[in-house]
Amino acid sequence: MDAHCGQRHPEHLRLVAAQWASALEASGFDAVVVAAGHPRFHLFDDLAPFFRPNPHFALWFPDKQCEGAAVLFAPGARPALYFHSPADYWHQSAQAPDWAAERFELRSFAEADALEAAVAKALRTHRHVAFIGENPPRSWAVEANPAPLIHRLHYQRAWKTGFEIACLERATENGVEGHIAAREAYHANGSEFDILRAFLAGSGQTEADLPYPCIIGRNEHAAVLHYQHYDRTIPADNHGFLIDAGASHLGYGSDISRTWPGTEASTFAELIAALDEQQRALIETIRPGLNYLDLHLAMHRRIAELLNRFELVRCSADAAYELGLSRTFMPHGLGHLLGVQTHDVGGWQTMPEGGETPPPNAHATLRLTRNIEAGMTFTIEPGLYFIPMLLSGLRNEAGAREVNWPKVETMTPCGGVRIEDNVLVTDDGAQNLTREAFAILDSP
Ligand code: GLY
Ligand code: MN
Ligand code: MN
Repeated sequence: MDAHCGQRHPEHLRLVAAQWASALEASGFDAVVVAAGHPRFHLFDDLAPFFRPNPHFALWFPDKQCEGAAVLFAPGARPALYFHSPADYWHQSAQAPDWAAERFELRSFAEADALEAAVAKALRTHRHVAFIGENPPRSWAVEANPAPLIHRLHYQRAWKTGFEIACLERATENGVEGHIAAREAYHANGSEFDILRAFLAGSGQTEADLPYPCIIGRNEHAAVLHYQHYDRTIPADNHGFLIDAGASHLGYGSDISRTWPGTEASTFAELIAALDEQQRALIETIRPGLNYLDLHLAMHRRIAELLNRFELVRCSADAAYELGLSRTFMPHGLGHLLGVQTHDVGGWQTMPEGGETPPPNAHATLRLTRNIEAGMTFTIEPGLYFIPMLLSGLRNEAGAREVNWPKVETMTPCGGVRIEDNVLVTDDGAQNLTREAFAILDSP
C-alpha cells in the first residue's frame, strides 16, 4: 500500500469497525462475516471474467488479491482475516500483504475447507451472525445479507473516510494521466483502439485494473452513452471525440469524461466549451443541505439555456425546459455516488433503515436523489448529445415544432459532449478532485 493511502488505513479500519458495530447492534446481530467471493466462470467454461471482490469486503481489505477470503467482525474484538493462499501451480497464489497481520487477526489457509471449518469454529461463540456476500457455507449457520443490516451499510457508504478520499485522489491522478495521453493520441489522429491503448499506458493500467470499461467514441459514436467498441479504422471526418474512462487505486475508482473537438474553431468546439463552463458553474453552487435532484434539475435549466443559445431550439430556454426538450439532449442523470463501486450503492436511499426516494418518472435514469452532505463523493457529469433514436422519437412529440431540425442535423455527426468530474462535498462547497489533478498534471 502506498504511503499516502497506507497511513490513513488504520484510522479507516477504526471508523469502519465503529460504523459496522452500530449497524450490527441496530439490526440485532452480534457478529458478521463478510466474504470476498470467488470468480464466476463463463457458461460451460473454466475461464472467468476479472475477479471483483464483494464491495463490502473491499471496504475492510483493499487488495483485489483476496479470492476466497473472509473477515469476521464482532464488535469489541479485533477483526479477523481468514485469508486463502491456495497451493496452485496454475496461478500465482495470493499471499496476505505485510500490513494485514498488523491490522487483523490474520490466519492463512491453503485449503478452502480448512478456512471454512476455522470460521465455523470461531462462529460458535456468537449467537446471531450476519453474512455479507454470496453462498455462505451451511456450516456457518449465518443469516445472509439481512436487509436491516445491508440498508445501514449501504447508506453509510456515501460518506468517505480520509483513506477512501486519498484512494480517490490517487485514482483521479492516474485517470487524468490516462486522459492526457488519450487526448494526445486523438490529436495524432489515432483510432479509438489507439486511444484506448494510450489511455491504458498513460494511466498505468491493464484492462483488469479498470473501474469500468473505457468509453472512447469518435464522431457519432460519442452519442452512444456507453459505447463499447474500439474501432481500429481512422474515420475520414474528424468532428470530435468523447472519452469516459477512469483508473482504480486500492479498489476505489475515478470516473472522468472529457470531450475534445476535431478542429479548434467550430460550433461543436463552442458547445463543448459552453457545457464545460456550465458544469463548472453548477459545481460552484454545491452546498451541504441541497438535494441532488435539485442540482440535476438546475443542470437541465442550463442545458435548456444552451439549446436556446446554440439555436438548437426556436423557443426560449424556459419553454425548452418546460417542454422537456432538455431530456432528449441529456437523457441520463447528472451523476451518482462514487467510491469502491463506480456507481456506488445507496443513491436513492431515504434513511439508514432503508426506503427509497426514486427520481420523478421524467428523470428515471438519475441514480442519486439524496441530500448532499459534507464527506460525500459523487460525479457531476452533464451531457448534451445528438442521439438519432431519441431525436426521431421527439419528432412525434409536441415539442418537435420548437426544435431547429436543420441545425440539429448539422450537429448529429459530432455525437455529443459529456464533461464529468468527481467532487468531494466540503463543509461549505465542493472540492473538484478531477480539475485539481488536471491543473497539476496538465499544465503546459
Ligand atoms: N462511466 C459511467 C458513468 O459515467 O457513469
Ligand atoms: Mn463516466
Ligand atoms: Mn459517472
